[in-house]
Amino acid sequence: MRLLVTGGCGFIGSNFIRHLMREHPEDEVLNLDKLTYAGNPENLRDVEGDPRYTFLKGDICEEADVRKAFEWGPEAVVNFAAETHVDRSITDPEAFVRTDVLGTFRLLEAVRGAGVRLVHISTDEVYGSIAEGSFTEESPLRPNSPYAASKAGADLLVRSYVRTYGTDALIVRSSNNYGPYQYPEKVIPLFITNLLEGRKVPLYGEGANVRDWLFVEDNCRAIDLVLRRGESGGVYNVGAGQERSNLELTRSILALLGMGEEHIQKVPDRPGHDFRYSLDCTRIRSLGWEPLYDLERGLRETVRWYRENRDWWMPIKSGEFREYYRRRYGDI
Ligand code: NAD
Ligand code: DAU
Repeated sequence: MRLLVTGGCGFIGSNFIRHLMREHPEDEVLNLDKLTYAGNPENLRDVEGDPRYTFLKGDICEEADVRKAFEWGPEAVVNFAAETHVDRSITDPEAFVRTDVLGTFRLLEAVRGAGVRLVHISTDEVYGSIAEGSFTEESPLRPNSPYAASKAGADLLVRSYVRTYGTDALIVRSSNNYGPYQYPEKVIPLFITNLLEGRKVPLYGEGANVRDWLFVEDNCRAIDLVLRRGESGGVYNVGAGQERSNLELTRSILALLGMGEEHIQKVPDRPGHDFRYSLDCTRIRSLGWEPLYDLERGLRETVRWYRENRDWWMPIKSGEFREYYRRRYGDI
């Protein structure tokens, strides 16, 4: 299959392209990425020389860039391109509305014109927070951050193209991913790399908020399955059933590094902080998917990866990220 992957230089996109190259020798991939602060060509250094892989620098919001990508002749599109960090959406929401909503609209227009399948990568955050039980794909969308609201806007556009134009589009809503190549603004790589640098970890509030942790390779297998076997117009929740409070998660990371709780620094909570996400994954499981990693195994591998790949994250932490971090967390 000839696949257009957008946002392939980010965390999940780069893991997905590596997954495709390994699992589907017959596939060819065009990666369209704007290379924002979160897009890093280093994430795909190992596949760069593969004749089945092509990179195109471009913005999914720009019609001309999207047109150029479609001239390559994709048979399907997987859209990872987005602004993704909740905290940044609170201080700079405009970039989120632009890329996550307008960018998805541009891709929908292009897939409508070309008559090809779109797998749109969404998030569990579109449902909002749930105190007990789990969201199904039919649960109402009640986003609480500008990030989640922009992603929900994109999901509704996808739905409208399916209903109005019969576009062959599907949505994957996954829980929190973690693993190699995740930008160290997100909690797991931030905490691991801070500890490796001898810094403390900034835990929001009392650390009581709950997330369901999905190892990135498990998500890549789910997306791949939806791409090839998903029902047109379908929405698929993907979670690993590995719910932990942030304090429990932090303790696990500290234990893996042989460190104690004196390394935790409690900081003011995130505004509008969703308490808990939880997904009912019956539908994706009925396609034959199940997660292969529990959090303990996934975290062990992730900590090992960040220990062994300082050359990847140290330039990031001393670059754009340093000023961002200093503004947010001061000297922690
Ligand atoms: P990321 O921030 O690591 O990477 C985003 C990528 O998109 C970067 O390579 C960036 O350069 C690119 N990009 C941004 N704006 C662009 C534009 N206008 N045009 C082209 N490229 C652009 O993101 P991630 O964590 O890998 O998330 C990927 C997708 O998965 C996003 O849609 C996100 O909402 C969704 N998601 C992420 C998680 C998670 O835990 N990370 C969980 C559920 C869903
Ligand atoms: O649920 C899926 C979503 O997961 C994705 O759609 C988003 O793109 C992704 O960023 C992620 O959002 P979260 O807000 O859940 O992830 P983050 O890593 O920012 O935070 C996870 C939890 O850790 C959250 O409850 C806030 C807390 N946290 C986060 C940071 C960065 C801290 O306590 N301290 C921190 O410094």
